Amino acid sequence: MSTSKTQAPQLNDVLSPVLWLDGTVALLDQRKLPGREVWLTYNDAQGVATAIRDMVVRGAPAIGCTAAMGLAAGAQSMPEDAQAFIKQFDAACDILAASRPTAVNLFWAIDQQREVVAQMRNQPTASLKSALVDNALRIWREDIAACQAIGRFGAELLPKAPRVLTHCNAGALATGGYGTALGVIRGAVEAGKPTCVYADETRPYLQGARLTAWELMRDNIDVTLICDNMAAALLAKGEINCIVVGSDRIAGNGDVANKIGTYGLAVLAKHHNVPFYVAAPLSTIDRQVTRGEDIPIEERPAEEVTRIGGYEIAPRDVKVRYPAFDVTPANLVTAIITEVGVAQPPQKETIDKLFER
Ligand code: MRU
Repeated sequence: MSTSKTQAPQLNDVLSPVLWLDGTVALLDQRKLPGREVWLTYNDAQGVATAIRDMVVRGAPAIGCTAAMGLAAGAQSMPEDAQAFIKQFDAACDILAASRPTAVNLFWAIDQQREVVAQMRNQPTASLKSALVDNALRIWREDIAACQAIGRFGAELLPKAPRVLTHCNAGALATGGYGTALGVIRGAVEAGKPTCVYADETRPYLQGARLTAWELMRDNIDVTLICDNMAAALLAKGEINCIVVGSDRIAGNGDVANKIGTYGLAVLAKHHNVPFYVAAPLSTIDRQVTRGEDIPIEERPAEEVTRIGGYEIAPRDVKVRYPAFDVTPANLVTAIITEVGVAQPPQKETIDKLFER
């Protein structure tokens, strides 16, 4: 494993948290935002897996892009001998697959890379290594394009003057670039809709306060930060007219796993008669899991709950429960917005149709 600090690589105009840089994976260290923009580079699967587990990079599609690049980077130093290569490559896949359990994009991206190796099994290892790089870059590019398409479909669904509540960070930082939920918001802004955004701070890890607020302000999009417990009051006052969130995994029946707190917002949306949209690429839909209760939910370390920015805010040794995600039943979701169209209402039939387009 090797990790080093770099200058922020020059991006074109798309903010991306993960880049392929001279044969390494460069990650914008999201733990340091919004205070500092620090880039770290990695050249093997173990380093990348640790970065994913430690939240250097987070957000389902971004984790997928990162894993694909991690496999490509790691492959470059693997043996030329075909059998030895495949053994090390399989081990690298297993290491990455053990990094975080809920975001299915991770497993999807690993499978995409495994497929390249399976198909090119009889080719020289050198061409296999370069094919893994090409495939990782394809996954990354297609993720950005998918987010932009989600943005176009989503923009049509939002009200004329959207006052959108979002949760966690489902933005450029959580994807190859552009974002899913924030992609819909960017799409609405680009379509000329006067849009304002309420960002839930998203306890305990504060992705909304640290990341969503930072990336929307960076794009001059009107954003107001609220604490999670303020959403109900603002909905009751009519200050919010739609909710848009991302997802880590969508079951075949349309149940949606996303950052803890999402389910509560969906219940609130129903009560206040406000549409509740989920924006996600097809790579987030896991039809092998037929219902939400079968989605594995990550439990994260108690310290993320008992400390904020290094400060202890709870009695030492207090018992803590910390499921990092929850599941919103499909019947509380108005529509799922993907890069190929919209599943409305979300259910097995409408979701299966998305894969036929
Ligand atoms: O724990 P995180 O920060 O990885 O959780 C991220 C989320 O829950 C996002 O909403 C989800 O991955 C969608 S990202 C486009």
